[in-house]
Amino acid sequence: MPPRDYPLEPFWMPFTANRQFKAAPRILVSAKDMHYTTESGQRILDGTAGLWCVNAGHCRPKIVEAIRRQADTLDYSPLFQMGHPGEFRAAALVAQLAPTGLDHVFFANSGSEAVDTALKIALAYHRARGEGHRNVWVGRERGYHGVGFGGISVGGIPATRKAFGSMLPRVDHLPHTHNLERNAFSRGQPEWGAHLADELETRIIPLHDASNIAAVIVEPVAGSSGVLVPPRAYLEQLRAICDRHGLLLIFDEVITGFGRTGRAFAAQTIGVTPDLITFAKGVTSGTVPLAGVIVRREIYETVVNRAAPDTIEFPHGYTYSGHPLATAAAEATLALYHEEKLFDRARELAPRFEQAVHALKGTRPIIDIRNFGLMAGIELEPLPGKPGARGYQAFLRCLEKGLLVRVTGDIIALSPPLIISAAQIDEIAATLGSVLRELA
Ligand SMILES: Cc1ncc(COP(=O)(O)O)c(C=O)c1O
Repeated sequence: MPPRDYPLEPFWMPFTANRQFKAAPRILVSAKDMHYTTESGQRILDGTAGLWCVNAGHCRPKIVEAIRRQADTLDYSPLFQMGHPGEFRAAALVAQLAPTGLDHVFFANSGSEAVDTALKIALAYHRARGEGHRNVWVGRERGYHGVGFGGISVGGIPATRKAFGSMLPRVDHLPHTHNLERNAFSRGQPEWGAHLADELETRIIPLHDASNIAAVIVEPVAGSSGVLVPPRAYLEQLRAICDRHGLLLIFDEVITGFGRTGRAFAAQTIGVTPDLITFAKGVTSGTVPLAGVIVRREIYETVVNRAAPDTIEFPHGYTYSGHPLATAAAEATLALYHEEKLFDRARELAPRFEQAVHALKGTRPIIDIRNFGLMAGIELEPLPGKPGARGYQAFLRCLEKGLLVRVTGDIIALSPPLIISAAQIDEIAATLGSVLRELA
């Protein structure tokens, strides 16, 4: 292994056990298609598309070239009160992929910013309609919406909330839908649990009054808390309740967007259309940060057309909302998805993927396997008194054997790039099987 020419200490790593990592670092130095290479030259099969984002595979020449060309042509242009062609083109391409009726796109840089932006758009919309009193949010337990104060408030991951005190003041949460007793080893959407959406109508709306609620925000398939697949008819039920009471429905598709579930968005795979969609990650296949919010035309028109003429209608945006490198990356990525029919490929591979992961049933520490599109969660029985320890061991052993997985507590999450081959799906399952047998 070549010596490192950099110190480890000054960098405060995100969502990482810094001391543990720095004592035994895991450093990736390059990537190509389905593989990473470590500093010691080991090839690692990417079972997680980086962090759920590299949907087109790594270092794809057409995307790399588009970024390079853009850096050489227009590196940056001010994005407030000025424009550049790429942001308009990229927005049109994203809108084309979105469910019918959602056709305006606001850009941000990260999923967390996209979530904050979506919450602000919801407030701006209600206010423009004379309903500025709507400021109660409804999130869901075990929901992950990034790490901004908006996102942690509507999110339901205790570790991201407990240390950060004041959050948005008026938030309620739906119950999560995970139930091992009822739904363990479900393939695709579980049968049990649609009624869990009813709590919106039976408890939350009566408590706060519908007239005060701004929006309900959920991930259609919860990713970061361990791939929690929505029960059949659950999202349909949420949509119906929101419609009955005039609440906006936001789908956070930061993970599920851009082919992960076999269509551009999970909204289309499942057949439920929200009012706003947040996206990030796959829009550039992880190459350059880009994120955003897609909204129904009426939301855009209400906020924009009801503002006084010649004013900035929505005083919100980031220095890099539609950065030229990011929009160039998005244009090239979306073209590649189209050219290689990668969303169809994900849909066609999904049964094979389902078969491969469910074949692990019976390996002793596994207490649940669940899947949707090219996402799967494999839940392990925690070691007594040591929650998360077995999951971390599995992560390390997989890495030693040349496979990158993501773990959240004792749940292994799989979300490979959409270019994965059937043989590589089998390789993931075989490596996981041998690791889990060791850990039994
Ligand atoms: C559903 C969802 N929303 C928001 C985010 C936050 O995105 P970011 O890490 O880009 O801020 C994530 C990140 O994984 C996510 O999964």
